[in-house]
Amino acid sequence: MYAKFHSIGAYVPSKVLSNSDLEKMVDTSDEWILKRTGISERRIADVDENTSDMATKASKLAIERAGLESSDIDLIVCATVTPDYFNMPATSCIISDKLGIKNVQAFDISAACSGFVYALSVAKAFIESGMKKHVLIIGAEKFSSIVDYTDRTTCILFGDGAGAAVISATEDKDEAFIDVHASADGSYSDFLMTPAPGTVNPLSAQVIEEGLNFVQMKGNETFKLAVKTLTKDVKDILANNSIASEDIPHFIPHQANYRIIKAVGDALKMKEEQVVLTVGKYGNTSAASIPMAINEVWESGRLKKGELMLLDTFGGGLTWASALLPFAGESK
Ligand code: ACO
Repeated sequence: MYAKFHSIGAYVPSKVLSNSDLEKMVDTSDEWILKRTGISERRIADVDENTSDMATKASKLAIERAGLESSDIDLIVCATVTPDYFNMPATSCIISDKLGIKNVQAFDISAACSGFVYALSVAKAFIESGMKKHVLIIGAEKFSSIVDYTDRTTCILFGDGAGAAVISATEDKDEAFIDVHASADGSYSDFLMTPAPGTVNPLSAQVIEEGLNFVQMKGNETFKLAVKTLTKDVKDILANNSIASEDIPHFIPHQANYRIIKAVGDALKMKEEQVVLTVGKYGNTSAASIPMAINEVWESGRLKKGELMLLDTFGGGLTWASALLPFAGESK
């Protein structure tokens, strides 16, 4: 039994936070943000719109587009670092309830921006082992809930959103995932973190006062490591599977920074039309970024059944991951 990428769905909140809005909040400029990141605007969820709400909307689309009912799903994996609740219950359990799915295994993955590709590797393993048939994987983030909107080095980068996919069992090898690679190096854990709440810094008045509940990032160090690691990772996955970069119609990288995407794309000698870009209008939506980008290219009609996708991502942990697989759902 093989795993196939059966369908995609996504959801973005309607509220737009533009660079000119941010100019009024912190000492920054539209010109600086565009030049250093390629971001023009990002979406921000309503106060009462939670990660599970966005995830549920994306999931409904993915299930419908796979031609399935919610009751066909036998595993739910939600990748998020901005769960509805920090300890329990898992956001995937809340999503299962909102989708009306009962008595099905559901758990979350914490791998920051790499979460969706990590979830792909989990779905592949469950399906290939014969344990599950239709796995709903989700990348969903309400990153605005952990961003300090007085810190210009981080608040310009992140946005909210969700993407979901159904990964199904198939006996047809032509539809199957070709390869998924996921890795981590915890010695860089301080490059990107939210120091609280957790056992190191339990919630306290001091934690709030010092803003330890907000995301902190060593941006420049992360940038350099991202370019180096991603370039090696995508070159390796292509070489290991004897596929040339010009044979990839859809290179769908994590949308953190246009300059990172450009550097990796150039190292692979990718043409502009091969590279999917959404960072300009959504910013970095962490685990949601790749499925949102896949959804964008599918909805535009450019991603057709059977066409190859190369995914690659990098995030807090540090974690990184890549995947090479055909889109096995129906074309739009
Ligand atoms: N507006 C204006 N100036 C700014 C801003 C801002 N918003 N932010 C920083 N600056 C200033 C800095 O203070 C610094 O000033 P100085 O030279 O006087 O000290 C100068 O701009 C340059 O700062 P750098 O941090 O060196 O800028 P850089 O070119 O590295 O861009 C950025 C910063 C955009 C954050 C970049 O480093 C980046 O994208 N890093 C990687 C992010 C990433 O990929 N993260 C991983 C995934 S995220 C996840 O897992 C959730």
